[in-house]
Amino acid sequence: MFVTKALARLTMCAGLIALPSAIPTKAYAQQTVTVGSTEIGGTVVSAAGPEAGVWVIAETTDLPTKFARIVVTDDQGRYLVPDLPTANYSIWVRGYGLVDSAKLTAKPGQLLNHTAVAAPNEAAAAHYYPAIYWYAMMKIPPASEFGGKSNIPEKLTQNDWLKQMKNIGCIGCHQIGQESTRTIPAAFGKFDSGEDAWMRRVQSGQSGEQMTNQLAGNFGGAPFKYLGDWTDRIAKGELPKAKPPRPQGVERNIVITSWEWSTPDKYLHDLISSDRRNPTVNAYGPLYGSPEYSTDNMPILDPKTNKVSFFKMPVADPEMPEALGPGHAASVKPLEPSAYWGEEKLWDTRANNHNSMFDKKGRLWLAATVRGMDNPAFCKQGSDHPSAKVFPLEKSARQVAMLDPKTMKYSFIDTCFATHHPQVRLRRQ
Ligand code: HEC
Repeated sequence: MFVTKALARLTMCAGLIALPSAIPTKAYAQQTVTVGSTEIGGTVVSAAGPEAGVWVIAETTDLPTKFARIVVTDDQGRYLVPDLPTANYSIWVRGYGLVDSAKLTAKPGQLLNHTAVAAPNEAAAAHYYPAIYWYAMMKIPPASEFGGKSNIPEKLTQNDWLKQMKNIGCIGCHQIGQESTRTIPAAFGKFDSGEDAWMRRVQSGQSGEQMTNQLAGNFGGAPFKYLGDWTDRIAKGELPKAKPPRPQGVERNIVITSWEWSTPDKYLHDLISSDRRNPTVNAYGPLYGSPEYSTDNMPILDPKTNKVSFFKMPVADPEMPEALGPGHAASVKPLEPSAYWGEEKLWDTRANNHNSMFDKKGRLWLAATVRGMDNPAFCKQGSDHPSAKVFPLEKSARQVAMLDPKTMKYSFIDTCFATHHPQVRLRRQ
């Protein structure tokens, strides 16, 4: 919808501008963009001509929460940011091969042309490459080092290594390769080697134990050498081997809106906006965040007013311990201080909502914790419940809860276990 409207408003005029005579024959079409009252549009041009496939970012802090809308220029360097709420926007350009442009200011209804700046060198250009272009520079131990021929535990295969380092483990929680992970924070002090720096850094914060268990435990400490070698080479100026292409074709039709919701010291595991089987459920309605291990305060974003509210998820047993520590994927306290937050304990959840799902009635089902780990007797060995006879369970880290957005009533459903993902249960309904 946004895209069709945006294209309809773009018109091209056939006039040509001759560039200075030092570049004799090169010329390019000058484009005009017609801008409606809720839009900001214009062109992005550098010394090389129109810049196609670069991002134009309009952001504002005038609204109740920080708001950004991002579009991509077409092959003539034109852009149009549609449907903007009334506010003052800071607008700028980012693109592969460029350095970020100056931030200009504009209001909806304004035509705004940008001058893009070519990156002066490869390092400046690579600064904006996606994290994975950097992470892909890390060396993988050759097959000859597996099977007990090095300090890599004998039972591990090269495939296990790849799986852990690039599919399910580290990458499941955060992107590696962005600036803060491809460099070593100064806050940790000096180390003799990159390997030592990595041993320390992954102990940081309330996930420090998980990271250390993987790297030092399951992988016998072997990855530290490779991670250290990776950041050492980057510190010496090595750059990614591949260059990312700019968005092409339909990739240029995308309009992204992002809001800064929740708070800087919590994280969101994910969010839900509708029932994927009935995608008109909750149309234009609020979005519900899942802060998982970080907090009981569920952020709720109203995309129409750009306002955020918080709903404190209760637990059935208020005396229960925090849903952190043994049996959970986050610790009660930081293992070692964080480079950013020091020794502060940031996460304190009990409800621990991993993920929510809408049903067709617009109710929200949560894979949340409602009580301590100990299961009720009917789940355990000795119970004559049919499921306990087949599969007795002594403990569960999560159960089920339900929030009805119409009344904000929150119900507890005690179960012997909850899968991470309630869609599994909904599919069986
Ligand atoms: C359970 C989720 C989780 C997993 C899995 C995970 N991390 Fe982390 N990682 C975190 C969190 C949370 C932080 C932030 C800690 C802090 O505040 O400093 C972090 C921080 C980091 C940092 C930055 C530390 C610094 O220097 O400030 C690096 C680098 C890192 N992780 C690497 C890894 C690697 C490599 C793996 C795979 C072995 C991994 N992580 C697996 C959650 C995770």
